[in-house]
Amino acid sequence: MSPAGARGRLDVNIKQKSFRAASGGKLHVLGELVFSLRSGELAALVGPSGCGKTTLLRIVAGLDRDFDGHVAIPAHGTLAMVFQEPRLLPWRTVEQNVRLAAPRASDAGLEMLFQTLGLEAHRDHYPGELSLGLARRVALARAFAVKPDLLLLDEPFVSLDDALAARLREELAELVNRRPVTTLLVTHNVEEAIGLADRLLLLSIGPARIVADVAVARPRAAHTPAELAALRHEIARRLNQPFSRENL
Ligand SMILES: Nc1ncnc2c1ncn2[C@@H]1O[C@H](COP(=O)(O)OP(=O)(O)OP(=O)(O)O)[C@@H](O)[C@H]1O
Ligand SMILES: [Mg+2]
Repeated sequence: MSPAGARGRLDVNIKQKSFRAASGGKLHVLGELVFSLRSGELAALVGPSGCGKTTLLRIVAGLDRDFDGHVAIPAHGTLAMVFQEPRLLPWRTVEQNVRLAAPRASDAGLEMLFQTLGLEAHRDHYPGELSLGLARRVALARAFAVKPDLLLLDEPFVSLDDALAARLREELAELVNRRPVTTLLVTHNVEEAIGLADRLLLLSIGPARIVADVAVARPRAAHTPAELAALRHEIARRLNQPFSRENL
């Protein structure tokens, strides 16, 4: 990883990534993965469970440097990541968790975030007192408080009930509309991907490759049932197809 990219731009050029298996063998998790995001662009990574999505995000975040290839993150290199599980510090309150991650955040900025995410009443609560949905909101607040140039979201709404997930999606959409940020969002939920993303990057089973790069005409806007059905059909078709260059 290097912060050498143009302002706001993400360039991913991974040749391959393997893990050493406990048995001594090699597990080839990522194949060749090459894509770029423009400044402020939000791409959803959609792919089967275990295909390497979290591995890819960890590489982009610089948490895993043991891969062949190169990743250039946006010029100023401030990034925030929301993990599959909220990962809050249990001995710190909600507000302290957010302030520790973003010491330069203004009181007004935090106020706005807590309001948008419905966390005002929970500022002084400890993570052990929060439901999973609330903890996920805190993880989102912490990520946005940093004002990142690059936002990495790993299934941020998984295992929430449909209504809450829908509300949090709207809140995320509001946050990125207010302050566009180059974002990679991992999701299994096609509606979520279509509703939030400018682009869908569809991944194959491991070793993961991009089988299709689908533009979403009107992200973060209501799609008609017919448009949704057409996109769903397109995604199903692409994910069932073996990788080929023509699909890119
Ligand atoms: N540290 C590790 N050591 C060995 N193998 C690993 C390690 N981390 C992940 N793997 C393996 O790499 C593959 C990809 O894992 P990864 O967590 O990236 O998948 P994923 O697409 O995020 O899955 P999910 O959708 O279930 O979250 C899996 O087979 C996993 O078992
Ligand atoms: Mg994962």
